[in-house]
Amino acid sequence: MFRFFNLLLLFALVCHKGNTDIPVTGKTGGNVTLTCEFNANTIVQVELFSDSKDINVCETEECRVFKKAACDVVIKNLSFSDAGKYTLRVHYKNDQTNVAKQKDRIYQLHIHDEISVKTGTPLKMHVLMSFANKVEKNSSEGWKEVWKRGHGVWSDRMNVSDENLIIKVFTDNDAGTYRVLDSEGEILITVTVTESGTQSSGKLDTDKDKTGDTEEHNHWFLPVGVCSGLLLVLAVIAVIIWRCWPRGYTPAPGQESRAPRGIGEPLTILTECD
Ligand SMILES: *[C@@H]1O[C@H](CO)[C@@H](O)[C@H](O)[C@H]1NC(C)=O
Ligand SMILES: *[C@@H]1O[C@H](CO)[C@@H](O)[C@H](O)[C@H]1NC(C)=O
Ligand SMILES: *[C@@H]1O[C@H](CO)[C@@H](O)[C@H](O)[C@H]1NC(C)=O
Ligand SMILES: *[C@@H]1O[C@H](CO)[C@@H](O)[C@H](O)[C@H]1NC(C)=O
Repeated sequence: MFRFFNLLLLFALVCHKGNTDIPVTGKTGGNVTLTCEFNANTIVQVELFSDSKDINVCETEECRVFKKAACDVVIKNLSFSDAGKYTLRVHYKNDQTNVAKQKDRIYQLHIHDEISVKTGTPLKMHVLMSFANKVEKNSSEGWKEVWKRGHGVWSDRMNVSDENLIIKVFTDNDAGTYRVLDSEGEILITVTVTESGTQSSGKLDTDKDKTGDTEEHNHWFLPVGVCSGLLLVLAVIAVIIWRCWPRGYTPAPGQESRAPRGIGEPLTILTECD
């Protein structure tokens, strides 16, 4: 029973941790700053990892990834492949004890771009990196899947080569917003595709703002929703088990295996005790 509550607590912590990733957004070709907001007495070293890969952080702006101020890290000339999770590890020392310590900050980097394409020409989007699990396009019915890992494209007007999603012949129906999601449903890349030659009017700007809102909403709602949903289910199971737990019953040594049996069959227990 208590083991189950421990599990519940652990799950809540994991959920909480998953939502503390710091969201940062950059445009292809632009820069992004991973701010460390940390006031240590002595910062010894700053490290950056992505997917357990070590990234070289330079002291000067000559490199694409460099340290700025005390421990901020700037990534220059962003590309779609930079999207994903980053861990910034700050090694520091405390003046009094002189003991080396470290602190991690985790960022979720989202990359966006706007491209315009002439109708009748092919459109190539370099977005199918290893982290990509799904590509969706907005339509009047909402987000529609156009590519999925393990399946490929859903339309014969598209194909794939070398991590590129290709629309063979671009038509004005293909204009819109495309987004790339990872296996956790996190939005990593957003590409707004417009037909070239059309004039940018006030209406277009309003639509863009609307899309931005939707993206933010989905970005936060999905992980929080999944987590709290699962937590609710686990909490209900816990309450059922609690209600059905025999009063004054103390499991004899070796009889502990009764509890996991109950957890696995909450419905049976519910009928038994009602
Ligand atoms: C990115 O940073 C570099 C170096 O700090 C700067 O020269 C460049 O103008 C910046 N680019 C953008 C798009 O902000
Ligand atoms: C930016 O990166 C692209 C490849 O992603 C490269 O072709 C280009 O030369 C880079 N530009 C600068 C200014 O480093
Ligand atoms: C999809 O997004 C684009 C660009 O943000 C917008 O102009 C368009 O109206 C959207 N389409 C639909 C059907 O929502
Ligand atoms: C994808 O389409 C392009 C353009 O039509 C074609 O050259 C290429 O061979 C196609 N690739 C695949 C794998 O079908």
